[in-house]
Amino acid sequence: MALRLGVNIDHVATVRQARGTVYPDPVEAALLAMRSGADSIVAHLREDRRHIQDADIGALKRAVPRLNMEMAIWPSVIEVALAARPERVTLVPERRAELTTEGGLDVAGGGRRLARAIVRFRDAGITVSTFIGPEERQVRASLDLGASAVEFHTGGYAEETSRAGRTAELRRIARAARGAAAAGIEVAAGHGLNIGNVSAIVRIPEIEELNIGHSIVARALVLGFPAAVREMKSLMRR
Ligand code: PXP
Repeated sequence: MALRLGVNIDHVATVRQARGTVYPDPVEAALLAMRSGADSIVAHLREDRRHIQDADIGALKRAVPRLNMEMAIWPSVIEVALAARPERVTLVPERRAELTTEGGLDVAGGGRRLARAIVRFRDAGITVSTFIGPEERQVRASLDLGASAVEFHTGGYAEETSRAGRTAELRRIARAARGAAAAGIEVAAGHGLNIGNVSAIVRIPEIEELNIGHSIVARALVLGFPAAVREMKSLMRR
């Protein structure tokens, strides 16, 4: 089974928001990503709107065939999702002060608010994925609440510096992926993946999709810098 790639374009919006310009446009980046082999586009509408804005979600939904909207269950964000109707929402935990999504969602302890949100999405025809640590009880709770996919947080693996630690994290992810697939739920993974650490994750056969953002945007800066400088230099020619 071919492994699908969801490209997260949040940090295209980060560069835009840093200067309050209209560029770079996340929709343009999304279209370039789709043309280059991405299978879906991922965008996280955070409560503080630090990168992706409400209007980006609607524009992305109109532009690409498969939008996976990451979100915590903040009321205003739920409304944006229900209005835009992305193909999928991925429910993540969110803390205001964090630099990025730091841990998995506690679906098992998520309570009635989480259950109610999932019902609203499913009623609207939006499939639900939960972003969780590689733990059986979180997979089970996701299934019980009606999620059709889980995404395992690979940040622990990506940040692990020792070989033994990385191997242990990989085993945990592989075991959880086997259990989830056997239970009949789709398995994705993501966070902190880059060209140096993705190969070992790719070898876990139950994982069907990887969602990758920061490293692709960072790499695009390196790969695209020569062309951008050449373009400006040519406009400066008298
Ligand atoms: N998947 C989920 C659920 C995420 O929250 C994020 C980060 O927004 C990613 C994937 C992508 O992580 P990264 O930007 O580190 O590749």
